[in-house]
Amino acid sequence: MKKYLFILACILCVPAFGQDMNQRALTPPMGWNSWNKFQGNVDEQIVRAMADAMATNGMKDAGYQYINIDDCWQSQRDAQGFIQADPAKFPSGIKALADYVHAKGLKLGIYTDVGYKTCGGYTASRGHEFQDAMTYAQWGVDYLKEDWCNAENLNPVGAYTTMRDALLVTGRPIVFSLCEWGSNKPWLWGAGIGNCWRTTSDICPRFDGILDHTNWQQWGVLQIVDAQKPIRQYAGPGHWNDPDMLEVGNGMSINEDRAHFSMWCMLAAPLISGNDLANMSPDTLSILANKDVVAVDQDPLGVEGFADATNGTVELWFKPLANGDWAMCALNRGTQPQNISFDWKSEKVADALSKRDAHFDTTTYSLKNLWTHQDAGDTTQPLNAEIPGHDVLMLRLTKN
Ligand code: GLA
Repeated sequence: MKKYLFILACILCVPAFGQDMNQRALTPPMGWNSWNKFQGNVDEQIVRAMADAMATNGMKDAGYQYINIDDCWQSQRDAQGFIQADPAKFPSGIKALADYVHAKGLKLGIYTDVGYKTCGGYTASRGHEFQDAMTYAQWGVDYLKEDWCNAENLNPVGAYTTMRDALLVTGRPIVFSLCEWGSNKPWLWGAGIGNCWRTTSDICPRFDGILDHTNWQQWGVLQIVDAQKPIRQYAGPGHWNDPDMLEVGNGMSINEDRAHFSMWCMLAAPLISGNDLANMSPDTLSILANKDVVAVDQDPLGVEGFADATNGTVELWFKPLANGDWAMCALNRGTQPQNISFDWKSEKVADALSKRDAHFDTTTYSLKNLWTHQDAGDTTQPLNAEIPGHDVLMLRLTKN
């Protein structure tokens, strides 16, 4: 009898666990992660420097909060099986680092993998999920990314559910990021397990193109954007599609960085910066900390944008916002400048997913340019603009 009561309790608990998990990250998580810039060279000095920068350079004020350590922080397990940080890279230990980051009003994230080894070959969580989750919670960790290398024959739903349950029983509200690269369509099962799930292979600082490493690939911004088009309906508050961490400031042109950032915001993507926050140009910072654009990403309605029309090499994207506003982003996929002409009055935008539409023939919206922060007229006049190559025009539409 006891056995049956236990099974019944488990069955009742699982959906409740899912609901609890999705109360976290009600808007897409915002922060920084060590991988894109520092890869295996991450250490506590770097993490502290990133926290110092984020807390004081305007990023915290714009909504960034997580400082996330990616792969290569681990050493071996101790005799009792507890995971240890590499003492050469993290001599003060992760708990002290979490205390430091928390004292700045920020949060600390860490990384593991479903296999025995991470992608970088370091000790990972397979068979130690509950022990690791407990350790992270004791350290004061607030965010966990779990990778999918060396998964062997693991069932992804089972593997990520195990870690989800392990995180939940710690009682600490740790945000859970599934890094499964879209291999098993995590958008179909990730809600209720994690707060976001990677949808593609790793990003690289390239606007258009794929870097082929034979047994794995890195994708450019446009390739990743295109992969999001069929899956927008699976994202929402607490469970987001994750088109990977940002490459803003890592080598693309300013136009490309601006377009990349704008599109991640149109996609309601997690905004996890991946550059050296302590040594970035004012241009890079002005992209990452643009509150008008960030507000599009963080809009509480939590509906991803969609491509509505094309105009030469330009794609016109729309995103419905909670207060009845819309964001519009004209993305020039080409390398050459492209003139666009959009006669609002003969256009109608309708989104079956959010059941929202905009009838520009009967309703006038005023326009704000989110990159220049200037008033850009209203929808009574056709929009005529030249969009530079690999750049955007991004507007917020507000009903008059
Ligand atoms: C995978 C992930 C990356 C990064 C590396 C670390 O490639 O997709 O985001 O975490 O592993 O090894």
